[in-house]
Amino acid sequence: IMSREIIAVIPAAGVGSRMQANKPKQYLKILDKTILEHTLSVILSHPAINHVILAVGKNDPYLSEMTLFPHQNITLVEGGETRAESVLNGLKAIKNNQAWVLVHDAARPCLTHQDLDKLLQIDDEQGAILAIPAVDTIKRANKQQDIIKTEDRTELWLAQTPQFFRCDLLRNALEQGLSQGANITDEASAMELAGFRPHLVAGRSDNIKVTRPEDLALAEFYLTRKTL
Ligand code: C5P
Repeated sequence: IMSREIIAVIPAAGVGSRMQANKPKQYLKILDKTILEHTLSVILSHPAINHVILAVGKNDPYLSEMTLFPHQNITLVEGGETRAESVLNGLKAIKNNQAWVLVHDAARPCLTHQDLDKLLQIDDEQGAILAIPAVDTIKRANKQQDIIKTEDRTELWLAQTPQFFRCDLLRNALEQGLSQGANITDEASAMELAGFRPHLVAGRSDNIKVTRPEDLALAEFYLTRKTL
């Protein structure tokens, strides 16, 4: 385990329409830095991570404003139409197929090294993801927004990132899933479709994905209190 190469792939090519902001959410500032810079600094400061591949939008005008680039440990690749395609483009830039990849949303700046450490313990080809057990009661709805049924929440988890897989296995799974036209909203779902059963590693609930306007204040609160 000690000698394996671990590469982080960070999809940051989304437009973040649910944020209703004038720029993609990863470029909004919290405290003194953009969300993307917070995320990159958590990842780059972890001793086990060798390199970061960042997928950004074609003609992204905000990247050049960031003082971080060029950076010797960050490779930029072009993102795709969907998150899965952005991640796949990142994986294609990895030469070592035996490497392990840690895929992490640019929009999750509150990740801790404590959670990362837990996930990086995994050394099983099924892979693993950070997730939290559902605490709210979960309803299934129809198109009219009426309740069809109440799900058994003891069996339900909310998937977070990072998600951790062997590079070659994830790449095959994403290629296969995309070619089938499957709706792939995280890496684990592609692995599941390919017949794997990734492990759920219980993470912290403050590892939020900044998605809606009200999430900004919460992320700022967590970032203010966090040491790493
Ligand atoms: O939209 P959502 O919040 O699920 O996006 C999760 C992450 O995937 C974000 O960091 C976003 O920038 C990224 N993404 C991407 N390429 C896309 C869509 C989303 O890299 N086409």
